[in-house]
Amino acid sequence: MKKIFGGFFEDKKILLTGHTGFIGSWLAIILNELGAKVIGYALSPYNDKGNFVKANLEAKTESVIGDIRDYDKLNGIVKICRPEIIFHLAAQPIVRKSYTFPKETFETNIIGTINIFEAFRKSKSSKLMINFTTDKCYENLELKRGYNENDRLGGFDPYSSSKACSELITASYRKSFFNENSVENRKIVSTVRCGNIIGGGDWQEDRLIPDFMNAIENNTDLIIRNPNSVRPWQYVLEPLRGFLMLTMKMWKGDNFYSSAWNFGPNQYDIYKVIEVIEKIIKYTGKGNYQIQSENIEDDFHETKFLILDITKAKKYLAWEPAINLDDAIKFTCDWYFYEDIDYDYNVKLINEYFKNYIT
Ligand SMILES: NC(=O)c1ccc[n+]([C@@H]2O[C@H](COP(=O)([O-])OP(=O)(O)OC[C@H]3O[C@@H](n4cnc5c(N)ncnc54)[C@H](O)[C@@H]3O)[C@@H](O)[C@H]2O)c1
Repeated sequence: MKKIFGGFFEDKKILLTGHTGFIGSWLAIILNELGAKVIGYALSPYNDKGNFVKANLEAKTESVIGDIRDYDKLNGIVKICRPEIIFHLAAQPIVRKSYTFPKETFETNIIGTINIFEAFRKSKSSKLMINFTTDKCYENLELKRGYNENDRLGGFDPYSSSKACSELITASYRKSFFNENSVENRKIVSTVRCGNIIGGGDWQEDRLIPDFMNAIENNTDLIIRNPNSVRPWQYVLEPLRGFLMLTMKMWKGDNFYSSAWNFGPNQYDIYKVIEVIEKIIKYTGKGNYQIQSENIEDDFHETKFLILDITKAKKYLAWEPAINLDDAIKFTCDWYFYEDIDYDYNVKLINEYFKNYIT
């Protein structure tokens, strides 16, 4: 697998924040297989059912358990480990939790971003950083067209707002410290804004697939709050492939690539919540759901319609979605219903994706 990206990642030292979580653990496995030296920095995993534990990433990476709000610890790790590249994924990522814990969400996602940027700015070894924000960073006007990278930032709930702030912080560091005049401190930074990512190993609360898998495990019905909400669902390896393609472009130092990038599904492949659940039931033959009665008032605002315009990534990175939602569901469900998940099983799924879908 080392040669998939032309061998670019072999022996690169990469600091990955959020490696104990859903997306970070997949990225850690891919980078490991590409021959990179991965240093992870995150809180302890929130349960033992995700890939950090199942794939034994504690042993497979240089794993540091630490809080992104702890600047001294984070900066110390950057100084000691001397990464060339930083991928920042650590965050409080749940919209509903952000209503209950707004302060923690803002601190983790805003102060955390500042801390990683400060450590990056002062590091002599680090040249490139990508900050993983979200599609929810856009001001949502319930538009029926996809949001593009030039659309206005916004964010209603604390999570979305904190990620819009993280975007603004990135832009400020880029302009203030890493511009063309910063000859001695030439660094290149980008953000990526992805849609609703699905894949094995996600057990976060208040997310559709984990909620459904938990319901199946507990022999209960999934309660669906917003069956007609539309989201840009995509398989976890899709944006991560784009992310790695972007890294290679950025490494060459062209300023154009130091910007924001959307990664999402094609606009003909977007679905409602209820359609995703129906597809899972059809593929697995398991699970039941109930639609929450509309007269139950829900205090939390959630957007109804959200899709992304991915023209920029298609045009300038030559990236595009390789699989449709049906295949994404197959890859995802295969993981949840497999008995003996370990590192090698994840590598098998990654190899299958690259071998069968990426030319
Ligand atoms: N899952 C999605 O659909 C999706 C979509 C768009 C963007 N994102 C973004 O991707 C990133 C990863 O999300 P995920 O889905 O893997 O979530 P996750 O909850 O599974 O993982 C979050 C990671 O962040 C770490 N973390 C949280 N608070 C921390 C703190 N105070 N200090 C250090 N580490 C901390 C956790 O330990 C974990 O490793 C987040 O930035 C999220 O906003 C996720």
